[in-house]
Amino acid sequence: MKIPIIVIGAQWGDEGKGKIIDFLSKSADYVVRFNGGNNAGHTVVLKSEKYPLSLLPSGVLRRKKLLISQGVVINPKVLITEINFFQNKGIVPSLTIDKRVNLVMPYHQLLDAATEEAKGDKKVGSLKLGIGYCYEDRNNRYGIRLEDLLNPQAFKRKLEEEFELKKRRIEKVFKMKVTLNKDEIYQEYLKYGTFLKSYIGDVSLIVTKYINKKQFLFEGAHGTFLDGNFGTYPFTTAVNTISGSVFPYVGFPPQKLNIIAVVKAYTTRVGGGPFPTELFDDSGIRLQEKGIEFGTVSKRKRRCGWLDFPMLKYAHRLNGFTSIAITKLDVLSGLPEIKIAYNYRINGSIVDEFPSNLPDIKKIDINYEIFKGWKEDIVKIRKYTDLPKNCRIYLQAIEKELKIPISYISVGAERSAIIQK
Ligand code: GDP
Ligand code: IMO
Ligand code: MG
Repeated sequence: MKIPIIVIGAQWGDEGKGKIIDFLSKSADYVVRFNGGNNAGHTVVLKSEKYPLSLLPSGVLRRKKLLISQGVVINPKVLITEINFFQNKGIVPSLTIDKRVNLVMPYHQLLDAATEEAKGDKKVGSLKLGIGYCYEDRNNRYGIRLEDLLNPQAFKRKLEEEFELKKRRIEKVFKMKVTLNKDEIYQEYLKYGTFLKSYIGDVSLIVTKYINKKQFLFEGAHGTFLDGNFGTYPFTTAVNTISGSVFPYVGFPPQKLNIIAVVKAYTTRVGGGPFPTELFDDSGIRLQEKGIEFGTVSKRKRRCGWLDFPMLKYAHRLNGFTSIAITKLDVLSGLPEIKIAYNYRINGSIVDEFPSNLPDIKKIDINYEIFKGWKEDIVKIRKYTDLPKNCRIYLQAIEKELKIPISYISVGAERSAIIQK
């Protein structure tokens, strides 16, 4: 029996999940994206060429069977551009998209932009791609599903109802002029339906049928602290990102999984919201520059800080990690010292786990553990024992504190820059 593998970001996203999925998909039969929308951005680097992905599972370069399950919301224009991009490179994605997937509509994007504007300095830093509003419609049963595009009459009725409601909301509540044209949206989405028709299927059925016969790799988007319930709410996405959500988001029964935490060797965050170990000095700028920490989708600078044990302990409690893939370890080379948040002090008490509410997060004082850095460039190292001693001491401290083994160590963006421990 094959045990399915799931890959989860342990921080605020951009941990390097795309790179790890691409690496692991070598031994997978199916790679399944199960949550989020094109607000996710996963970069795979192969022979110096960058492949940015936002909807296609990161197993695409290995020509694996790709599935997009109902927990994902799709902007069809973005997905079609990604499919065409790979087709033009001679890689024809073998893709099935669940018929229940909800579609991001142009009015979702307008609503996202209008809400962020209205929130002023309380804004979440949303990418304004309409993802949150698409999930709102999906959860509130107003959504337009992929399968609706195959029934033009029914689609027209749904769109007519929805468009008028959304238009009134944007114009009356947000006082913004809506220049979108319903008939143009209808025609545009029918064309998307024609393009995507051959990809539509029942992913839940495929997964349930083959889950223990074939090797499945589930790709989680975003990160634990962006989880819509357990993350730094309300500075989160609108969807669950923790491991257990894979079962309802795909539609197969709960069962044993190998749960791989992707942990960046330091911490980053893009957009607004709390970030206890954030650095505002030269070390932060150095991490940002050496790590080339810019958003894949938004190109915004990512905020940078030290690794944080209370965060990772909280992530472990929620996800039940069985092993860790550490990424971007090479970025730490050359630093004279490296810190890890060991625990927090809140109202004078020692706290080992990330608190669940914003008022407590604001009161965090940090006790740091300080490690000696290493000078050597580690990008070309492929054996654990060849890593500099101080680098191994850093990794051993992580394993010891979290009580989770590190199985993979990524030392560069390239597919080959990885150490299997
Ligand atoms: P994801 O959203 O978790 O898939 O991560 P992103 O792809 O958005 O961001 C991670 C960035 O770091 C990408 O540009 C990767 O190419 C790059 N990357 C991944 N692993 C490593 C690594 O070990 N070292 C370095 N230097 N870059 C890496
Ligand atoms: P990947 O899969 C990093 C952040 C956004 C914003 C907040 C809400 O690449 O790791 P939304 O568009 O959902 O309304 O944005 O969440 N965010 C991410 N940050 N990586 C991601 O995904 C993210 N997905 C959403 O920057 O602050
Ligand atoms: Mg990303």
